[in-house]
Amino acid sequence: MPDNAANYLKCKNYICFFYFGIIIDSFDYQRPLGCLRSDPAVKSIFILKCLLGYESIREDRTYMSKPESITLEHLALINKYITVRQKTLDLCVPLEIEDMVVQPASFVSPPKWHLAHTTWFFVTFVFHRFGVDYAWPDKYFPQLFNSYYKSQGQHWVQGDRGNLSRPTVKQIQTLRQEVDEVMISWLERFNGDIPSEIQTVVRLGLEHEQQHQELLMMDIKYILWCNPSKPAYLPSTSIHRGSVLSNPGQKAYENENWSSDGGLQQFGVGLPSADFCFDNETPQHNAYLQPYSIAHRTVSNAEFSEFIADGGYQEPSFWLSEGWDYIQKDNINAPLYWRSEEGDGKDRWQEYTLNGMEEVRGDVPVSHISFHEAYAYARWANKRLPTEFEWEHFAKHNPSCKSASIRETTELFLENNLAQAYYPEHAEGFVNVNGGLWEWTSSTYAPYPGYRSEKGAFGEYNGKFMINQVVLRGGCFATPRAHYRMSYRNFYQAHQRWAFTGLRLVEEKV
Ligand SMILES: [Fe+2]
Repeated sequence: MPDNAANYLKCKNYICFFYFGIIIDSFDYQRPLGCLRSDPAVKSIFILKCLLGYESIREDRTYMSKPESITLEHLALINKYITVRQKTLDLCVPLEIEDMVVQPASFVSPPKWHLAHTTWFFVTFVFHRFGVDYAWPDKYFPQLFNSYYKSQGQHWVQGDRGNLSRPTVKQIQTLRQEVDEVMISWLERFNGDIPSEIQTVVRLGLEHEQQHQELLMMDIKYILWCNPSKPAYLPSTSIHRGSVLSNPGQKAYENENWSSDGGLQQFGVGLPSADFCFDNETPQHNAYLQPYSIAHRTVSNAEFSEFIADGGYQEPSFWLSEGWDYIQKDNINAPLYWRSEEGDGKDRWQEYTLNGMEEVRGDVPVSHISFHEAYAYARWANKRLPTEFEWEHFAKHNPSCKSASIRETTELFLENNLAQAYYPEHAEGFVNVNGGLWEWTSSTYAPYPGYRSEKGAFGEYNGKFMINQVVLRGGCFATPRAHYRMSYRNFYQAHQRWAFTGLRLVEEKV
């Protein structure tokens, strides 16, 4: 039997498993399309099928170039679509319906908005661009679910998303289900030959949804924390990970660091790329590094507690002017989710994690700090923050930090019920490069030399935010596994700290 014919039969069989699962799962309103994750029997059969010949169906294949096996690539795209869309729903399972609609701060979005907006992306940029026969069920949906795409017409004010009781969560879940059914049916009709321009935009929509999965976790944590009862997101049975820190009081920099002679180094992604990347990661270019030393691990809670106890938040010389004004205005004296309680004549710090309020653990990385706090800590420690190029050069030398290796070895929270970032136990000497927390750099978010923003609506994705933002590198424990990339450039404003952020220390090598 010709290879293509054999592949086609395998693929039809595989598609049947998806539809079989969809039919079964349609009885469970909250988990449409969820059979491969939620039903152990079907999942076992799926794994068996993979072992019998579908091992090449992987999430991390590229769609930037013509695939060698069109049929398998076609299935990989459908597989990824179903998996990614389901994960967004899975993240909302621990929530009550009331958790889905509130917006306690303008920078936070209600979870139901994330569910709707990620769906809007596919309708707007896939269905309407490629002529799929689909009409919005409500004429206001395009406006309500658009985030900031001026080219796509008016959008609702971000800070007012929580003021809308309609559309309801139920309506949005129905919308998602309808759009998913149309999408899968449409992709399947290409019969194994999806045009590359469609593959590219669908893949972009999935990467966009994975970004929102992390945003969703940031927002859920903030929403639950704003309640005085501090409800937990994860059940109390969730796992507390161990730590590689035998002595939490150890200084991250003094004990272990990695030195580089610097020199001219290559950064950025050259096109065409073998892997997916956003346009802000391009083009490939050189940058010169001075010799430097960088800590093996990020700063711990124990270390950051010393900064607090030493009056770090009360000493203006450690702070940039804007940072000092910011902590004065908002009366900030600790990381975002820390609260102090009197005990034994001194402050005892508690921290809100996805498990609820707990004692601050000294042996885990400090998290939820702004760039200003990271900068002040580094000044206090007589060190500095790395540039994004120093960070990437360091990470490239971490044997456990290759892009594929990260995806395979990082013990991420969704699979492990992690309530906070921790120092992984198997880090091959370099600790916590791969995904505990996003790490603040000293680099402002600017275009790489030769960068050209995409034309049209996708030019609004990254390029227009290249002002007044700071680059963060790495990834965090809430970043979807398949979304990790060494070249990834995250960015936030210097005062923002509801993202899962931390810091690593550097100094010049003499
Ligand atoms: Fe978005």
